[in-house]
Amino acid sequence: MNEEETVVTPWEVKGKLDYVKLIEEFGTKPLTKEIIDKLKSISGGQHHLMIRRKLFFSHRDFDLILNLYEEGEKIVLYTGRGPSGPVHLGHYVPWIFTKYLQDVLHAKLYFQMTDDEKFLFHRNLTLKETKKYTIDNALDVIAAGFDPKKTKIIVDSENISYLYKIALKVAKNITFSTMKAVFGFKASTNIGLIFYPAIQAVPAFLEMELTGERTYTLIPCAIDQDPYWRITRDVAAKIGYTKPASIYNKFFPGLLAEGKMSSSIPESTIYMTDRDEDVKMKIMNAFTGGQPTIREQREKGGNPEICTVFQYLYFLFEPRDDKIREREKACRKGEILCGECKQYLIDKIIKFLGEHRKKRKRAESLLDKFLMK
Ligand code: TRP
Repeated sequence: MNEEETVVTPWEVKGKLDYVKLIEEFGTKPLTKEIIDKLKSISGGQHHLMIRRKLFFSHRDFDLILNLYEEGEKIVLYTGRGPSGPVHLGHYVPWIFTKYLQDVLHAKLYFQMTDDEKFLFHRNLTLKETKKYTIDNALDVIAAGFDPKKTKIIVDSENISYLYKIALKVAKNITFSTMKAVFGFKASTNIGLIFYPAIQAVPAFLEMELTGERTYTLIPCAIDQDPYWRITRDVAAKIGYTKPASIYNKFFPGLLAEGKMSSSIPESTIYMTDRDEDVKMKIMNAFTGGQPTIREQREKGGNPEICTVFQYLYFLFEPRDDKIREREKACRKGEILCGECKQYLIDKIIKFLGEHRKKRKRAESLLDKFLMK
């Protein structure tokens, strides 16, 4: 195995086979150099961190979107969030990239809050609770810095009058056997969930419906949402809309061992509203690639490719390429200890969340502007 490769993309290497497999299984495409170079040239700047470090790695028709943008077509962004609990870093990270895309493509954004989906999915969640999380989560969304003039937050249960007619057209063109094949629905699945994917398809078409223009939708999201877009793309032409394109991110790593961040294990997750003490405690207890003793660490060096602390720095908190390479090397040589990396990361996260806290506070007065009326 090539050591350089292991170093620069730990998550990817560890998960490399999986993500390659996922691309194959889902039938999506990898983001090629040609495509990311084009995005870079359109942006007029450098490759975005999340492109450079391959957090965003796959797509459907993203190349087409860039071509259409260059031809002067109107691009619309669509993403969303299932409000079943507080927002953590894993949710927030793709929004940073979505905000970047909004700026680069001068695009309107529809942000869907699927309180209906989460109510239907979680046996114990009430509509009152999903509503509470909807408002709570919307503050994190707004704090990501989206343009208030160009962004609309759709709350499914509130804004259904915008969605329902399109959802009907979508639903009429999907059979139950397709739903079973794509989502694994069973005879025992509640019928709300079976209809729900029609609702998640709608924001991909909403701009066309509202304006009567022919526009092109791009959906930045985690790869697990792809089944929705397969269905959405299938029905698009049949009901007179353009097919949405998508660009996919990997799951942000959890803190305890490998696997994605999980809301069901709070210690594996940094919430956007965590206090400084929470951050300290969670990072201090994080799984690292270090040796059991200082002596062994000095002798053998650590394993950044399995280290969650290193991955946090890699994907978000150490944007400088020279610095991340240096740290990686020093770790391998046993020149630094896990405690030092942890403290460095803690400081970065506390600063990041401190800034977020301020933006989140300001978001309260903007809420009304963002919510679809
Ligand atoms: N289903 C998503 C979730 O559970 C929420 C969602 C709705 C979404 N529309 C989206 C996510 C579009 C990404 C893009 O979190």
